[in-house]
Amino acid sequence: MKADIRIFKNSEALSRAAAEIFVTTASQAVGARGRFLAVLSGGSTPSGLYRLLADEPYRSRVEWSNTFVFWGDERCVPPEEEGSNYRQAFENLLQHVPIPAENVQRIKGELEPAEASDDYAQTLERFAAPGRDWPRFDLVLLGMGADGHTASLFPSSQVDIAAPALAVSADYQGRPAQRVTLTPPVFNSARTILFLVTGEDKAETLSRVLSDVFLPEQYPAQRIRPADGQVIWLVDEAAGKYLLVE
Ligand code: 6PG
Repeated sequence: MKADIRIFKNSEALSRAAAEIFVTTASQAVGARGRFLAVLSGGSTPSGLYRLLADEPYRSRVEWSNTFVFWGDERCVPPEEEGSNYRQAFENLLQHVPIPAENVQRIKGELEPAEASDDYAQTLERFAAPGRDWPRFDLVLLGMGADGHTASLFPSSQVDIAAPALAVSADYQGRPAQRVTLTPPVFNSARTILFLVTGEDKAETLSRVLSDVFLPEQYPAQRIRPADGQVIWLVDEAAGKYLLVE
């Protein structure tokens, strides 16, 4: 299937498009299944989206009482610390919207990585259909690093496909190295996956990730290929400069 790649002038326009997709997906999911299961990402790129969703006209278009948020990965630091993906989403979005506390399913970064990943596997199971280990997410937000990583699936990460969540260790731009990440089968069972990618430093990697040459060990973002769902790439002009999009 041809990749759905949308290129925007700047990150502001990209964030608005992402907010529109978020609210539309939320209302379709609540209409069809009574709840909206969304996976948030860390990194700096989604902050603009989070701030838009925290405010009108987007805020009141989401039924927050039926919205459940999860994380694709977390850095193993306490939730109040700089560097926590939970904290970033809480400060920019969650504290500004009427989402019930029990709908916020964070990865417990304050625990040891292996303990936090086991704990999160149990959380995922609680939301799964009977006999399944994790739920089918309605929307997964992902970023991509300049090295081709996504969530905390790094070029060096072991990919233990049997487990829904994994403890990993990776050094990237001085960010906390101990992490917990969801694994490809969990992402790949989602209905919609939305990548947000900005910045010229990612342009070359992005063109490789989106090329026909499949090198997932080198470019873990290529592991994201939903079996029965869609992937949408929202890219700014700087990151998309080597992409040929009709
Ligand atoms: C994390 C992320 C990670 C991130 C990329 C891109 O916890 O760090 O989930 O995968 O999305 O590193 O980060 P930027 O948006 O800051 O470039």
